[in-house]
Amino acid sequence: MIAHANKPKTFFVKILRQDGPGKPSYWERFELDYEPELNVISVLQKIAAKAKTANGQKTTPVCWDCGCLEEVCGACTMVINCKVRQSCSALVDKLLEDSREIELRPMTKFPVVRDLFVDRSRMFNALKKVKAWIPVDGYYDLGPGPKQSRDAQEMAYPLSECMTCGCCVEACPQYSKIELLQHSGESKDAYEARKTEVFNRNFVGPAAISQVALFNLNPTGKMIASERLDALTEEGGIQVCGNAQNCVAVCPKKIPLTMSIARMGRETTFNTLRKWFDRRGDSKH
Ligand code: SF4
Ligand code: SF4
Ligand code: FES
Repeated sequence: MIAHANKPKTFFVKILRQDGPGKPSYWERFELDYEPELNVISVLQKIAAKAKTANGQKTTPVCWDCGCLEEVCGACTMVINCKVRQSCSALVDKLLEDSREIELRPMTKFPVVRDLFVDRSRMFNALKKVKAWIPVDGYYDLGPGPKQSRDAQEMAYPLSECMTCGCCVEACPQYSKIELLQHSGESKDAYEARKTEVFNRNFVGPAAISQVALFNLNPTGKMIASERLDALTEEGGIQVCGNAQNCVAVCPKKIPLTMSIARMGRETTFNTLRKWFDRRGDSKH
């Protein structure tokens, strides 16, 4: 095929590996036969099956995470040739246009579980902190929800595409890596509680802020809008954002993150003022 005419017979994949949480990292290089229309996940599958480096040394299979294979779950996110993106939608033919080698690293803002597999639980914790859900009072059929205007739907839809992939926080200068290892003798519950406490004191990140914008737009979600804005006003909230706008540039879903951040910045200010006036009003009676 013309598109693959200039491709090499073989290509190299350099992977930054790590054997477990807190362990040192090291590079390994693999050589694979070129085939057209591979993506990075299929390359990783071939490397795992081979378990041999480019110089013929036996090695352990490389570990990575993935789910949907169609850029929906966000689990396969890694740094590919210095760019954070999903490995399922990273096409080898395209990557080989610039070089005969592809470089894979785990994201740098999350603890490494093993090799390219990172622990994104801090992002899911942030969604819990900001109550990124619609409150319902049971599992029975509540019937159709209140109608939403077309304008509100058009504003909400792009925000609903977030897959908690981590690209935005990887690029954000205000989001620093937190890695807490379990102490010997520390129970699993105590370890989880310690992590939650530390996560809650640190920046929630742009994805969680944008989810507040999404759920506060929803007619039912609005019922706890003020609680979500309170969460964004606490330590580690929206005030940490330095408005560098790196997040919006890397979001694979093109979510208007800086617009969400600006809107939530205004709403948190109104929310704080409203509560202050309410308290003053109460104290006069
Ligand atoms: S906002 Fe975009 S970059 Fe950030 S987690 Fe969601 S989809 Fe990924
Ligand atoms: S705009 Fe805020 S959240 Fe986005 S990258 Fe900059 S500091 Fe981070
Ligand atoms: S495997 Fe789900 S986004 Fe790549």
